[in-house]
Amino acid sequence: MTLLAIESSCDDTGAAVVRDGVLLSNTTASQAVHERYGGVVPELASRAHQQNIVPVVDAALREAGVGRDQLDAIAVTLGPGLMGSLLVGVSFAKGMALALGKPLVEVNHLQGHVLAHFVRTPDDTRPTPPYPFLCLLVSGGNSQIIRVDAPDKMAVLGQTIDDAAGEALDKCAKTMGLGYPGGPIIDRLARQGDPDAFTFAKPAIKGLDYSFSGLKTSFLYFLRDRIKDDPDFIETRRADLAASFERTVVEILMQKLDRAVRETGIRHVALSGGVSANTALRRAFLDRQERKGWTVYIPPFAYTTDNAAMIAQAGYYKALARDFCPLDKPAFARTVL
Ligand code: KG4
Repeated sequence: MTLLAIESSCDDTGAAVVRDGVLLSNTTASQAVHERYGGVVPELASRAHQQNIVPVVDAALREAGVGRDQLDAIAVTLGPGLMGSLLVGVSFAKGMALALGKPLVEVNHLQGHVLAHFVRTPDDTRPTPPYPFLCLLVSGGNSQIIRVDAPDKMAVLGQTIDDAAGEALDKCAKTMGLGYPGGPIIDRLARQGDPDAFTFAKPAIKGLDYSFSGLKTSFLYFLRDRIKDDPDFIETRRADLAASFERTVVEILMQKLDRAVRETGIRHVALSGGVSANTALRRAFLDRQERKGWTVYIPPFAYTTDNAAMIAQAGYYKALARDFCPLDKPAFARTVL
């Protein structure tokens, strides 16, 4: 079973080839065009996808040493994501499936993030999580705790009611006049700062749901008050501010995850999404492994941010089950799992 996968849900154009569950290539073109705007501009993203998609798919096939005629199916992210971006990948995948006479496989982007833990290169010996496991999916657009019972059986136990964790970190950086995306900048700065220097309000949300918009607002007011007395406050305390904000985000995430583990009794816990690159969050996971007997799974960085390898893996399971998608099924912008 040889499958080509295409991912274009946000601002990265990706293509990957998987054969019998083994990843042969994984190509991504990132879009620098958004940097000067401090966030993804949907219209610019879809135009860049149009420019990137042909070379990215070509590169993935070339790198895998696979010809178009050797493909058994084409997988594509059908949603959720930015509609204009999704349409580029979905139209391209449908066109290719039609031209080659091969079936189309639809992949839910969020399921792809979870199944990133099963991506395997030929010499890869990392253990895969056994079912059932819990997955903390934290990215620029999502913060969810997911119970995973099978590749096609996932349930959201809790999720953000407003901003995502990555969005909070991005906004923290933006408020301090730092660049975009803010998450990696905060991560780097935080390593030189004192995480206990400042205390920010934590939300009191019921159950396993999250909220990050209050933290963002309290950070903004906190800075405004301090700047009144000391105009150089941000400049001089940048690292301490980053470290304290990051600590708060990680504590909020882990508090609910601890609770999910207690309530479900499931102690195999995976981390997914762009924010899983974060040093403090990774440390918190490893700490749970040492102190609480969890077994934790943290994928390599290449499979945490948006990528087509995870879409290929998710698509591979579906193609094996002959779960194909009609060519007239439209892309979708929003969904739950
Ligand atoms: O999964 P992802 O690539 O796609 C989106 O959902 O857009 O996640 C991107 C998010 C951004 O908010 C970015 O700031 C954050 O992941 N991120 C990080 C780090 N690397 C990326 N956040 C904290 N620490 C990092 N090292």
